[in-house]
Amino acid sequence: MIKGVILAGGKGTRLWPVTKVVGKHFLPVGNKTIIHYPILTLKNAGIKDILIVCGQEHTDQYVKLLGSGSELGVNLYYTIQVDPLGIAHGLGLARSFAENNSVALVLGDNIFGDNLSVAVKKFSKKERGGLIVLKKVSDPQRFGVASFRKDGTIKNIVEKPKKPATNWAVTGFYLYDNRVFDVIKNLKLSNRGEYEITDVNNFYIREGAMDYVKAKKYWVDAGTFDSLHLANILVRKQK
Ligand code: G1P
Repeated sequence: MIKGVILAGGKGTRLWPVTKVVGKHFLPVGNKTIIHYPILTLKNAGIKDILIVCGQEHTDQYVKLLGSGSELGVNLYYTIQVDPLGIAHGLGLARSFAENNSVALVLGDNIFGDNLSVAVKKFSKKERGGLIVLKKVSDPQRFGVASFRKDGTIKNIVEKPKKPATNWAVTGFYLYDNRVFDVIKNLKLSNRGEYEITDVNNFYIREGAMDYVKAKKYWVDAGTFDSLHLANILVRKQK
């Protein structure tokens, strides 16, 4: 079984002053809010038990908007990330929720045009190691960037490289086996003061246990005014 985890903490400083009063994940995209999209991404991939890791400021609003998840056809649970120590730290908070299961992690502001059941099916065949979703982008410096060996397997991921080896960005959808919680426990803080999901991914790559799929449709990380605007255009077009 695979349990879903959505990371919806963060202060949304790139969307100030709007996010001084409204949490980033409640801003509109199409006829929904941003947070609806990762929930639907998991649901459409067949994952219905979902933990939302919220920042402390807006927990009541998540519950008001989404409740138990029954209106969306999912089971929602909530926890709070008090310290903003990065994506891997946020995922670490899901340990008891995950029990002995594998996890699908989605970043709360990531909007995918693809149905990611393809990724879940590929991962489920082995249910060991990890699987990431890559997308070709024109601005790889903003992301984790994958490089490949001659046989097409991933060689390495570099977080926000100044000189990216490829244009293949690591998107905010990740699948891991249950060992991920031990991997997270052994991480060291990065230079930007976070527990990096890229370090988790490189652990699985070194083990030779990291797969990937390539997103074919759009992918937007809706954390800036420009990308939020783009997300609205793309979501509307898809209708
Ligand atoms: C994070 C990850 C990065 C990934 C990106 C996807 O970046 O660290 O590897 O490519 O999400 O949105 P951050 O949002 O922390 O800058």
